[in-house]
Amino acid sequence: MRVAQTQAGLIGQTDLVKIPSLSRLTGCDIYLKCEFQNPGGSVKDRAALQMVTDAIDSGELRPGMTIVEGTAGNTGIGLAIVAKAFGLEMLAVMPDDQAKEKEMMIALHGGTLKTVPPCPFKDDNHFYHTARRLAQERPDYWWANQFENLSNYKAHYCHTGPEIWQQLGGKLDIFVSVAGTGGTIAGNSRYFKEQSDKVEVWSVDPDGSGIYAYLKTGEYQSQGSSITEGIGIMRLVENFKQAKIDYAIKLPDVDLICIARYVLQQDGMLLGSSTALNVAGALFAALQRGPGKTLVTFACDLGERSASKLYNQAYLEKKGLSVEKTIDELVREYQSGSAGERIVSVNP
Ligand SMILES: Cc1ncc(COP(=O)(O)O)c(C=O)c1O
Repeated sequence: MRVAQTQAGLIGQTDLVKIPSLSRLTGCDIYLKCEFQNPGGSVKDRAALQMVTDAIDSGELRPGMTIVEGTAGNTGIGLAIVAKAFGLEMLAVMPDDQAKEKEMMIALHGGTLKTVPPCPFKDDNHFYHTARRLAQERPDYWWANQFENLSNYKAHYCHTGPEIWQQLGGKLDIFVSVAGTGGTIAGNSRYFKEQSDKVEVWSVDPDGSGIYAYLKTGEYQSQGSSITEGIGIMRLVENFKQAKIDYAIKLPDVDLICIARYVLQQDGMLLGSSTALNVAGALFAALQRGPGKTLVTFACDLGERSASKLYNQAYLEKKGLSVEKTIDELVREYQSGSAGERIVSVNP
């Protein structure tokens, strides 16, 4: 147990927890890295802390300045907490269709919030460009730029990956991760591959994201959409570029809804939507590879941040997602011969 001097000192050193039901079902050990234990409730606290401390060390970020960032919410919460710990201000630009829970947390942690209508990246009004423009307008504003700023991936390479390796005593067969900026998958995969090239790295992507198509064909293409937040991307960014990925799969929202319900019912664990996708990916990989393996994936944020979407029946019905898939159906599907055809083997 730690005694921290500021809240930022509590970021990282999170626990691992086994998912009992899915581990029994697959004969594998499937672990979640509990990133919801960070003070801001998500994995993005780690990137926030590393980006800010690196910028302070380099002299880019100085006392009295304001951190500006475009965010789906979790990075904004992390930066608001880190900003306070270092006596800085924080301005978050967010698309206005994200869970209201996250807007509220940024404001409660003292961040200033600007919401913009969601639009494609090529549109100048996209939250990313809005944040960049705002930051360029004033000399006392500093743009964190989580997509291109490699301090993001470094947080995971230097801390998260080594923590997991130590927690498992090096007994890791498969690492599964979603990607938003790619910081998490990149930092961890690089670290694991340096420890052992036998560790398999699986990327899991939702509908509406182009990562799967990119890894398959080299082109960013997407179809459909997803209720997940903070993950999926339609362009190649510096952090994702650092990732060492062996296999990629893409799974629809009905799968993550099925998994979230099953794990809640069986194990009492409330998964956020990106976490549920991670867990669906882990189930897929475990069933493909067979019993006896040790898998790790991330509980990226607090499950309660998905209350208004994943755990809201009326919302799911509005989205046409009320069709239920049972765990038996999911397992049969993931074990079937045709499931193998969905896996993209990624060339180094
Ligand atoms: C809930 C959630 N899960 C996963 C991710 C993806 O993390 P990364 O940006 O490291 O790829 C994010 C990123 O914002 C997120 O908010």
